[in-house]
Amino acid sequence: MSIENNINNNQISTKKKELTIAIKVTNLTKDYEIGDFIVRAVDNISLEILEGEFVVIKGPSGAGKTTLLNLLGALDKPTEGEVFSYGVKISDMDHESLAIFRLMNSGFIFQSYYLISTLTAEENVMFPINLIGEKLEDQRRIAVELLKKVNLPDRREHFPFQLSSGEQQRVAIARALANDPPLILADEPTANLDKETSSFIRNLFKELKQNKKTIIIATHDDFLIELADKIISFEDGKIINETLIK
Ligand SMILES: Nc1ncnc2c1ncn2[C@@H]1O[C@H](COP(=O)(O)OP(=O)(O)OP(=O)(O)O)[C@@H](O)[C@H]1O
Ligand SMILES: [Mg+2]
Repeated sequence: MSIENNINNNQISTKKKELTIAIKVTNLTKDYEIGDFIVRAVDNISLEILEGEFVVIKGPSGAGKTTLLNLLGALDKPTEGEVFSYGVKISDMDHESLAIFRLMNSGFIFQSYYLISTLTAEENVMFPINLIGEKLEDQRRIAVELLKKVNLPDRREHFPFQLSSGEQQRVAIARALANDPPLILADEPTANLDKETSSFIRNLFKELKQNKKTIIIATHDDFLIELADKIISFEDGKIINETLIK
């Protein structure tokens, strides 16, 4: 009996060790210099995000949420500190390695969509798939599937200016999912959208969570906050509270 208990305990401790850290940041600081003026948007934070975790970052406007997401996704370089993704230090990778890293590992859903205005909805979704060298027919097949998934099967040939805000956001989500990345970073993905689109996007995040994606999302949306495993309250560039749910 006691041997069994020992075995069980060992199994439990092995299981605990299996939790993989997807992102780790240490003493992260980001300063923006405008003339003589310096804004410290992220102020010496340390943080770990586990694989498959759904992390919500909330905080007032100007708190530094977008800046933090950009640093976590290696879109921007920190002024000080380090960012690791699966143990690999990404904060001092060169430009080219970072571009490949981002393409393979992360999907970004930005606060203001950033679709390429001269490409159609379908071409916008094909773009990141093209960059990793997939055949044209596969690029198109995946883009068609994803546009169906975000409920825009009949907007493939539309340019961004011919789409509503909610439709643009859904194309941006399809693009973020194009290479099926393990990490999804989203900046207020349901803000300023109509009820129906917000609800559609919320359910899509629920599905991504069920599919064990690692999700980091800046939001004030109660439905998305409900899905969180961890809530980080951010203010003035600092973590003022970190709550683990469950
Ligand atoms: N590129 C930049 N150059 C200079 N200052 C910047 C830049 N980007 C952000 N800042 C400043 O850094 C601070 C944090 O900005 P950030 O956009 O990260 O905040 P936020 O929490 O995302 O706000 P919001 O909720 O309004 O989106 C702000 O004071 C902002 O003015
Ligand atoms: Mg922001």
